Amino acid sequence: MAKVYDEVSRTFNEYLLIPKLTKRTDFPEKVSLRTPLTKYRKGEDPLIQLEIPFTSAIMQSVSDDTLAVALARQGGLSFIYSSQTIEAQSEMVRKVKEFKLGFVESRFNLTLESTLADVVRIKNTTDHTTITVTSDGCPHGELLGIITSRNWRIPKMDLRTKVSEFMTPVSELACGTDGISLEQAYDILWNHKLDVLPILKGKNLSSLVFRKDYFSDTENPHALMDEKKSYMVGAGVNTRDYRERIPRLVDSGADVLCIDSSDGFSEYQKDVIDFVRETYGETVKVGAGNVVDADAFYYLAEAGADFIKIGVGGGSICITREQKGIGRGQATAVLEVAKARDEYYERTGIYIPLGSDGGIVQDYHVTLALAMGADFVMLGRYFARFEEAPGRKYMLNGNYVKEYWGEGSNRAKNWSRYDKNDGSALKFEEGVDSYVPYAGPLKDNLMITLAKIKAAMVNSGCLSIKEFQHNATLTVISQMSLSESSAHDVIPKDQTF
Ligand code: IMP
Repeated sequence: MAKVYDEVSRTFNEYLLIPKLTKRTDFPEKVSLRTPLTKYRKGEDPLIQLEIPFTSAIMQSVSDDTLAVALARQGGLSFIYSSQTIEAQSEMVRKVKEFKLGFVESRFNLTLESTLADVVRIKNTTDHTTITVTSDGCPHGELLGIITSRNWRIPKMDLRTKVSEFMTPVSELACGTDGISLEQAYDILWNHKLDVLPILKGKNLSSLVFRKDYFSDTENPHALMDEKKSYMVGAGVNTRDYRERIPRLVDSGADVLCIDSSDGFSEYQKDVIDFVRETYGETVKVGAGNVVDADAFYYLAEAGADFIKIGVGGGSICITREQKGIGRGQATAVLEVAKARDEYYERTGIYIPLGSDGGIVQDYHVTLALAMGADFVMLGRYFARFEEAPGRKYMLNGNYVKEYWGEGSNRAKNWSRYDKNDGSALKFEEGVDSYVPYAGPLKDNLMITLAKIKAAMVNSGCLSIKEFQHNATLTVISQMSLSESSAHDVIPKDQTF
């Protein structure tokens, strides 16, 4: 007969924290959310630590270079999705590594042959009015001139006028040289009373610095940066083309890799880790997963994973449990794997950080995951709602929404995440294509989530995640307690009329 666990498989919704003594001297500003991402030996420091315990999911609709920069600025880490060509993924990694705060690539570029009609089209479709004129119409071509809203006036000018006739030519522009600091760039902007400063590499356009960005461009002291002051970024890899993909990602500057698979308890994952060790020794870090029990944790720990992700079937867009009947309640999975991790640390002196991946719905679920032993969380739906996420924004029934689709959906076609390495397409989907409510900029939302986590940690008498993992007390709640958890037996004012 099959083995059946004695205890029920539970989700985060079925737990609450019990408050502990709150000390007068403890307040949320004192809480550190620093947390290890890669494994380390007792007494040593992990090679990579996150400033906040947040990573973004390895998904087309979540982790591209734009979101990666926004999250690294707040101290977290994105894993750029692997369900794209090796070239495209490496390019995204390179963009994050080369991103310089305040220096933006010129998005709208024309040639000398373009006309005022082209300028008006860009203005009408994008609302942007700063357009560069380059030799080849590309963002890094030789800079010939710049057009802003001050250069043209529609009723007075013929739409067929060539841009060469009304642009400000490069000879009359103040420009910065590639390599100057942001502060120097702003000094030039201010001294010359400019709105935009082109930065040149030789005669070619490198980037633009805008006066309007000045007030938002202060760096977060907790940004996640490498020793060269570039933002840190991770990259997903699969168990099929890893021999070609990994070297390209490493060359592009990826700081850490993660094997992206719905089933981490597999010999294919060990093959990938072996390849990394044979090729790079310990210099390249690679996480593995996903798992839901102790046996799978021990397998990947012995295989040499630098961190291990937990979670099968709990993702918001996931239909794996319905399709295959495989998975486990996320809370139960985290508790069991964390227990195995602590035992492994006790026995070997090697601490392997754990990531709780999928199924975070409420902000407090992150807090519970940490209390249960996770060192960080990986989130898809949460980040897909933000301005910086790749999904398109729509108006739906009077509200803004963004697209969010699973890697196992027909839309993403990330079959390498789900199949058994035989190269064939899957015969059924494991994810759905959906909308999520649009929530605005990442930073504004994350600040609120972090404030809630810190407040709950202070209520538990803890100022660090380590302390929290050791001292938190949790209770399982009944369905009745859950209904007591939100506002009840009152008429909320926003529902009165
Ligand atoms: P969420 O934060 O609840 O939206 O879950 C995101 C996680 O779901 C990802 O990090 C993956 O582990 C997992 N996932 C992504 N796409 C799919 C899918 O199509 N089917 C099942 N799980 C998925």
